[in-house]
Amino acid sequence: MIKITSLDDMNQFANLLVNQLVPGDLILLNGQLGAGKTTLTQFIGKAMGVKRIINSPTFNIIKTYKGSSLKLHHMDCYRLENFEEDLGFEEYFEDQAITVIEWSQFIKDLLPSEHLTINISVLNDTTRQIDLIAIGKHYQQIKEAIYDEFTTH
Ligand SMILES: Nc1ncnc2c1ncn2[C@@H]1O[C@H](COP(=O)(O)OP(=O)(O)OP(=O)(O)O)[C@@H](O)[C@H]1O
Ligand SMILES: [Mg+2]
Repeated sequence: MIKITSLDDMNQFANLLVNQLVPGDLILLNGQLGAGKTTLTQFIGKAMGVKRIINSPTFNIIKTYKGSSLKLHHMDCYRLENFEEDLGFEEYFEDQAITVIEWSQFIKDLLPSEHLTINISVLNDTTRQIDLIAIGKHYQQIKEAIYDEFTTH
């Protein structure tokens, strides 16, 4: 468990995460409306060197941004709640990019088996709890590195 007490903390968490990522990595962001999934994605983009403004891709579902060395695919599957539609996700997952998905539970049958899930819980206006769930050895290593590094601050 990681306790995030400010936007600065969330930014620091995103920096630690991005330092661990390699091309092709998949990050799932879980949490209620307003938990901070898009906010975390914005910090991930900033850490990757994305210059464009990252906003919620609710209507497009998928948006791609160019970082300094890698692309960032940002998906928001909220609109797919009642019909699991395959928008060609596999091509995105196979890309040598970083993919971040909000509301991935609505496409759960289409997801690769290995990924890092970040659960964000709201504690109060500015405080969040983050829990990491890693599936696969690579993501397990990322999880351990982040827990090690964050708690040392
Ligand atoms: N420590 C924090 N971490 C993340 N967001 C925070 C924090 N403190 C305050 N906030 C605020 O909480 C809000 C989070 O909204 P955001 O759009 O990121 O949520 P979301 O999880 O993407 O919601 P949705 O499910 O509607 O897409 C923002 O206004 C953000 O500034
Ligand atoms: Mg969002």
